[in-house]
Amino acid sequence: ELPENGKVTWKAPSNIALVKYWGKRPVQIPANPSISFTLDTCATTTSVSFRKKDTNDTLSFDLFFEGKPKEDFKPKIQTFLERIDLYVPFLKEYHFTIETSNSFPHSSGIASSASGMAALSLCLMDIEKQLNPTMDEALFYAKASYLARLGSGSACRSIKGNLVQWGKHRNISNSSDLYGIEYPFEVNPVFRNYCDTILLVHKGQKQVSSTVGHQLMHGHPYGENRFEQAFSNLDKLKPILANGDLEEFIKLVESEALTLHAMMMTSMPYFILMKPDTLEIINKIWKFREETKTPVCFTLDAGANVHMLYPSSAKEKVRGFIQDELIGHCENGQYIHDRVGMGAIKI
Ligand code: PMV
Repeated sequence: ELPENGKVTWKAPSNIALVKYWGKRPVQIPANPSISFTLDTCATTTSVSFRKKDTNDTLSFDLFFEGKPKEDFKPKIQTFLERIDLYVPFLKEYHFTIETSNSFPHSSGIASSASGMAALSLCLMDIEKQLNPTMDEALFYAKASYLARLGSGSACRSIKGNLVQWGKHRNISNSSDLYGIEYPFEVNPVFRNYCDTILLVHKGQKQVSSTVGHQLMHGHPYGENRFEQAFSNLDKLKPILANGDLEEFIKLVESEALTLHAMMMTSMPYFILMKPDTLEIINKIWKFREETKTPVCFTLDAGANVHMLYPSSAKEKVRGFIQDELIGHCENGQYIHDRVGMGAIKI
């Protein structure tokens, strides 16, 4: 029996990939496995109110972003709901009011698609759980991740905490192309409170959407080698994560970030998504690391912003360095201190 109406709310975090997902085939199947730190501070909170309607032949919803109607996000949500209709039996039975807000500044250049799609998927699963109260918890989260993947690939890594792996890998037994899993191997305590400071270098619209970016990996001259490299980097990461070898961690993470950008520079058409300040920051991080032996490194998403990763023991030194030398390279001096988090929560 379907409830007449109700409301559910979930908060889901963003994530930052260590081994990057770049390239996919239909429907949202990754060309290579990836792994990310789940973040904590950067998050989307979404409420879904649902009300039974008379007809069940169409999808029906309203969308509010930070309290205001948001027409320009509607097509993306519409496509998402159409795609998951097959898997969510009650979708056309209700009218939904979706209200969403981000913890980070609007248009900060931080992608909200991962946290947003994860939060919305969890809300829908929560409604499904009301219809099926005995649903197993593991199934609940796996299916939420599955749905989130259909909204935005990397969103499937924003359901659970600390370290999430996505994409079938021969040496990771429960890995799947269809949803993210909590990293099943030993993780050294040094990574538990790992910090991520996001330097907001360029807040404008991205030059290339990730949808277009993924497509450019089809027939890419270095594509097959890159996909193989991601598989092998996941293998290499296993002992690094277990023994906390930060020197090797840094090499692997920075190489992944630069390879992601190298793929964009060598596709047709080609893109440079770094800005001059991105390069200035990278050079300063390298110099600081060399001079102070502080284990801090950078990583990048498909944009100009820089994520600085460091253990919490280096917090004071790194934050002093950011204050003294890096803020001048950020748009309006903006940055966000974040850290590794536990995954999404019900509000
Ligand atoms: O989830 P999408 O389709 O927006 O892809 C994101 C891809 C990167 O952020 C560049 C890398 C990653 O693995 O998160």
